[in-house]
Amino acid sequence: MAGKVDVLIGLQWGDEGKGKIVDCLSPQYNVIARFQGGPNAGHTLEFEGKKFVLHTIPSGIFQQNVLNFVGNGIVVDPVVFKQEIINLEPNCPWIYKNLIISRHAHIILPTHRLLDAAYEQAKGAHKIGSTLKGIGPAYTDKISRQGIRVGDLFRSNFKDLYKNLVAKHLSLLKLLNFDTKISDLEQEFFDACEIFKKFQLTDSNIFIQEQLSKNKKILAEGAQGSMLDIDFGSYPYVTSSNTISPGASIGLGISPQQIGNVIGIFKAYCTRVGNGPFPTELNDNTGEILRKLGHEFGSTTGRPRRCGWLDLVALKYAIQINGVNQLIITKSDVLTNFDEIKVAVEYKTKYSNIQHIPFNFDEITEPIYKSFKGWKTNIKNIKQKEQIPQELLTFINFIEDYSKIPIKIISVGPDRNENIWI
Ligand code: GDP
Ligand code: IMO
Ligand code: MG
Repeated sequence: MAGKVDVLIGLQWGDEGKGKIVDCLSPQYNVIARFQGGPNAGHTLEFEGKKFVLHTIPSGIFQQNVLNFVGNGIVVDPVVFKQEIINLEPNCPWIYKNLIISRHAHIILPTHRLLDAAYEQAKGAHKIGSTLKGIGPAYTDKISRQGIRVGDLFRSNFKDLYKNLVAKHLSLLKLLNFDTKISDLEQEFFDACEIFKKFQLTDSNIFIQEQLSKNKKILAEGAQGSMLDIDFGSYPYVTSSNTISPGASIGLGISPQQIGNVIGIFKAYCTRVGNGPFPTELNDNTGEILRKLGHEFGSTTGRPRRCGWLDLVALKYAIQINGVNQLIITKSDVLTNFDEIKVAVEYKTKYSNIQHIPFNFDEITEPIYKSFKGWKTNIKNIKQKEQIPQELLTFINFIEDYSKIPIKIISVGPDRNENIWI
């Protein structure tokens, strides 16, 4: 029987450390595949004193023997993509051979980026806090059947498709009173589109099914986080794709039965960039300390991330909607030296305490916390479970008991080698 596709999913509001962990896991796989999102993602990898941030390209690209696949569920900005290739080429000379792209992936046009900014400007105080990479407008065109796909770039009617779509975008931008000078952006866009000629283009399902039939091991790399999912996140403060594990089915062309392990990754605390509900947010000195010690600034936009305690109610919800069967915790090292560490186990509302995500987050008056004693020893060099300080073990065991899912890796630093494998 052919194998299955494992899926790695962020369980919070993004930036859980997916890039680092996929890089660590990738030697165990033959293919790493992205299935949703686009250049709104910023996945950081660190090794040998070097640091890379990936936006569109899967985090297995540094392994010479691993294929990397950009699935049909992705929206690709040729300009960002070309720049990523230029940045990676010196370290990954195999990139043209190892990176394969679905013809069905949608293209982000310069006017999608302008529309993103125009919609945000029009929303004023209610803006989403988008990364302004054109994600929402590009997915809007996909769903409304007007989008342009990677495969369309090489069709004889491409220029007509482009002109018609841009004409619509320009009239929308005019309606929104948004300043639009696109000639320079267009030149940069058309130049960048040439880069796709250097890559193998294929159909997602053909590529993935062929790999599975050859018994190749595949890991699907999620982007964003479960709480940013278009259906299950804190709508409308979400991204425009299905970030949860079923998204891998749609975004790669595999049936639900072909999903294997669902690996859920979360930080030892919570962060969020952009607007929207965040029950455990700390607008105080503790939040400030978390931001400083965790270097919590966006990998894509550099914006300060909002910080707060770990929210186990939201985590359990994310585990459930994804079908997570293995957990990975990152950034426990950031909590070293805290006297007290808290985790939310319930939400208080006007009527009762609840252990689920309400339709309206405003119903939550405050989280109810359980406190843990902090560990005061440096954990960055620990490699074995036996060396873990008792306080951290108590914290980990509580999360496992609450979620009923085992934690398989405790990540204790940004470097590839800073992990405790349980
Ligand atoms: P992603 O979007 O989920 O890939 O996460 P990001 O790369 O946006 O943000 C995670 C940040 O935390 C990056 O700067 C990583 O290098 C860093 N990081 C990942 N794991 C750990 C960890 O266990 N400890 C520390 N201190 N940093 C980590
Ligand atoms: P990775 O893959 C964190 C957030 C934005 C904004 C909302 C919508 O690195 O975890 P969008 O640009 O998609 O229209 O923005 O989603 N957001 C992310 N936050 N990490 C990400 O990706 C994100 N991608 C989008 O900040 O609140
Ligand atoms: Mg990120």
